[in-house]
Amino acid sequence: MPTGAANARKIAVVPGDGIGPEVTAEAIKVLGAVTAKAGKRIELEEFDWGADRYLRDGTTLPAGAVDTLRRDFDAILFGAVGDPRVPDNRHMREILLGLRFELDLYVNLRPCRLFDKRLTPLRDRSEADVDFMVVRENTEGLYAGVGGQFKRGTPDEVAVQEDVNTRKGVERIIRYAFEYARQRGLKRVCMSDKSNALTFGHELWLRVFQQLRKEYADIESTHLYIDVLAMELVRDPRQFDVIVTCNLFGDIISDLGAQLGGGLGLAPSGNIHPGQVSLFEPVHGSAPKIAGKGIANPLGAILTAGMMLDYLGWSAEAAAVQQAVRAAVVGGHTTPDLGGQLGTKAVGDWVAQQVG
Ligand code: NAD
Ligand code: IPM
Ligand code: MN
Repeated sequence: MPTGAANARKIAVVPGDGIGPEVTAEAIKVLGAVTAKAGKRIELEEFDWGADRYLRDGTTLPAGAVDTLRRDFDAILFGAVGDPRVPDNRHMREILLGLRFELDLYVNLRPCRLFDKRLTPLRDRSEADVDFMVVRENTEGLYAGVGGQFKRGTPDEVAVQEDVNTRKGVERIIRYAFEYARQRGLKRVCMSDKSNALTFGHELWLRVFQQLRKEYADIESTHLYIDVLAMELVRDPRQFDVIVTCNLFGDIISDLGAQLGGGLGLAPSGNIHPGQVSLFEPVHGSAPKIAGKGIANPLGAILTAGMMLDYLGWSAEAAAVQQAVRAAVVGGHTTPDLGGQLGTKAVGDWVAQQVG
């Protein structure tokens, strides 16, 4: 990370594809407003990684990009990647998963919160019932890209995708979840796996969890199989403060959790390696069907910028952003996915004006 002035930070911006650039522009607008008010400065440098560049010259993540990010930037603000013109998703994997893996961003923090009870699909639930953090392992598991295909395209074809779980990887993410809870005074950590069926990989998760929980006796720790966790999240989400799980299960339950809080358009995330350059992105993808229409919800991207401010040590500004987004949601200053009538830019303007 660069060692710049105390009141300045350097941010790499990767708007990406589809609605990525639309929502990222609004996040930047809000960042500009909130930092200017505080007499702080963010320096932005934009990178054109995404489908257009890939289709033009074949570049996904350029050589040297990872070193540049590590050396010159405090954080990365990312939109979304994914484009129907690239049906095999190659650029998406090489850019997004490439950055997660090569920067060793082993924590994927995905808060699930309800800002206004009318937005949850659950009957008789209110704001206090949906407020938990998904701590998703982000560098291994079924995403490791280990495997292969044999006799592809023939009636005898075989496809193998290995689930990679390392002692180091499992231990650091479970420990992170416990520390996260302890530092914030949260009482409960739930570890979720499928160790009843996945008797090698997830048995390791269960064993490491049983060991670590002894060090965190101040925290109520529970274990649920992932199928039961999915059911419990719908039945009674209030019982959860912090959920820690593997890469794939974390992907799935964070979309479930997003919908409990009003939908994908509102869900932020941070891909973090504590103390190193980290990447912040909304949970949603490039939403090609609504791209270019000016109706994408920018609040997930704006909350993401808030998470980034927090990571950069600017917690008052982060809190101001979250407060303004809550006010936008409660006041109905939203895009149609949340029942409002505003466009992407108008929502960004409203939030920027609140924090500015
Ligand atoms: P998606 O998140 O793009 O869209 C899912 C649904 O949610 C769609 O109905 C979409 O219109 C809606 N939606 C998403 N974000 C919204 C927003 N901000 N405002 C309003 N509605 C919103 O998921 P998908 O359709 O499965 O994927 C589309 C592409 O994005 C694929 O190529 C996929 O691989 C990629 N993807 C990328 C990321 C990322 O870059 N982090 C994440 C998920 C998916
Ligand atoms: C997410 C996305 C990605 C994931 C895809 C695009 C590879 O769904 O960030 O949640 O599965 O991690
Ligand atoms: Mn996902």
